[in-house]
Amino acid sequence: MTGNWGGGYVTDVPYLTGYFISQSPQMLALCCLINGVAVDPPWENPRLHYLELGCGRGMNACVLAASNPGWQVTGIDFMPGAVADARRLAAEAGLENITFIEADLASFADSPAAAALAEVDVISAHGVWSWVGDAVRAGIVRLAAARLRAGGMFHVSYNALPAQQDALALQRVLREAGRRVVGRSDRQAMAGREVVQALVAAKATNLIGSETVREMVGRLERVPAAYLAHEYMNAAWRPCWHADVAADLAGAKLEFVGHARLVENFVDMMLTPEQREVHDRFDDPMMRELVIDTCINRTLHHDVYVRGASRMAAEERDAMLGRVRLALATTPEEFSYVLTMPAGEATVSEASYRPMVAALAEGPRSIAELIAARGPAAPPANPGEVAMVLAGTYQAMVVRDGNGEPDARAHRFNLAVARRMVRLDDLNATSAMASARVGAGFACRAAETLIAAHLGALGAAPDPAALAASMVPEGPQRQELAGLVAKVLHDRLAVWQRLGIV
Ligand SMILES: C[S@@+](CC[C@H](N)C(=O)[O-])C[C@H]1O[C@@H](n2cnc3c(N)ncnc32)[C@H](O)[C@@H]1O
Repeated sequence: MTGNWGGGYVTDVPYLTGYFISQSPQMLALCCLINGVAVDPPWENPRLHYLELGCGRGMNACVLAASNPGWQVTGIDFMPGAVADARRLAAEAGLENITFIEADLASFADSPAAAALAEVDVISAHGVWSWVGDAVRAGIVRLAAARLRAGGMFHVSYNALPAQQDALALQRVLREAGRRVVGRSDRQAMAGREVVQALVAAKATNLIGSETVREMVGRLERVPAAYLAHEYMNAAWRPCWHADVAADLAGAKLEFVGHARLVENFVDMMLTPEQREVHDRFDDPMMRELVIDTCINRTLHHDVYVRGASRMAAEERDAMLGRVRLALATTPEEFSYVLTMPAGEATVSEASYRPMVAALAEGPRSIAELIAARGPAAPPANPGEVAMVLAGTYQAMVVRDGNGEPDARAHRFNLAVARRMVRLDDLNATSAMASARVGAGFACRAAETLIAAHLGALGAAPDPAALAASMVPEGPQRQELAGLVAKVLHDRLAVWQRLGIV
């Protein structure tokens, strides 16, 4: 029994742990710079205060705290089990710059604890807005109005209309059928899923009609029950129009800037020329977003807002972007020149980007240096597009100046995450490694975190069998790892070194 405090949100099953680079201040700042909005670059700010709303079990918040020892990170969630788990991870990693608060966002803004919160530079609410009721959304707006500083960034993700209209029947059937079964929400979700699948097999028009809904139905089979419960069993789930979210957030003087998934800031890459013509008839960003959402299948928005957006001239924007330093987060051989977007795929000019990738393989470079690396005869390049192609595809990451030793606190955190994954016997799970050079997490599999964390502890690249033996006791896990270690060391070591992880 969990009582009735959830306001219709699922509270009897903990959510999964996850790290999402779209929540990182570096992605939000790149989005702002690309859209010509002046922000203090987080990679130059040693004292940033980051607030995560609905932080769940704290993985994202802990990765950011571990990657930025000078920052203060605060996470809020109303599930005591999630908050306890988050605090345990922070304690295991010895993080002293993070606080988790157990509170209901519907009322937290009006509490003495909120009044005592230091002014915030960045707020992120991932996986919350369209899954909670009006009172919680209003509480989030009051909190941003009261605690986010002028010029601060706000990130919100939500299920978006019209793409999610096809999911209305799916969610309703799954939840209603599930609710009729006695038991925990994850079991209810599985029971609801079975009814959805039976209706799909029986060719129910509203569950098979569109490609979107067919994809969603296919996904039901592949995701864990806890995900299904948090995705579909909430009473207040309601997909939103972009303009309605913007109207609500205007209550905190927040102005829409663009998209944390950087590719979505480049309209040419998402719309056909005919669609673009209609889009360009409007100056109003709300109308433009409506046209884009009508043309493409964007089921989840990752929107970036600023509390008082200060617009830059194009030269200033390009100069700021030109100073951004990037490090290659993949190997030159694996670098993909094909971009995946909501509307399909696009290929970027290899002639333009290959010299940049080659320069990055030698070490971190500023975007201005990368553009220059193409040689004097190359045509002019747009620094925003370079940021999108390299960092927006997660094949490069923003890095701070300096090539110093990996930070001991980030390493201790990676080791704590690795040990947790060994205990959970979940080495295939998605994970992330902290890096003080990057100031954000590097997404990877848990087995890679384990290997990198132990490499750091040994301080060199030792024999793969000895490394596997140092990581886990004799048994099936060690055998599984031994096969992986040599391959991962060969493929990833240079990447981890460039990112300052080892
Ligand atoms: C879908 S989960 C997302 C968790 C995390 N942000 C992530 O993306 O992995 C939503 C989170 O919001 C929290 N939440 C929902 N309603 C809330 C409320 N009224 N106050 C505080 N937290 C809430 C839930 O407990 C849950 O951890």
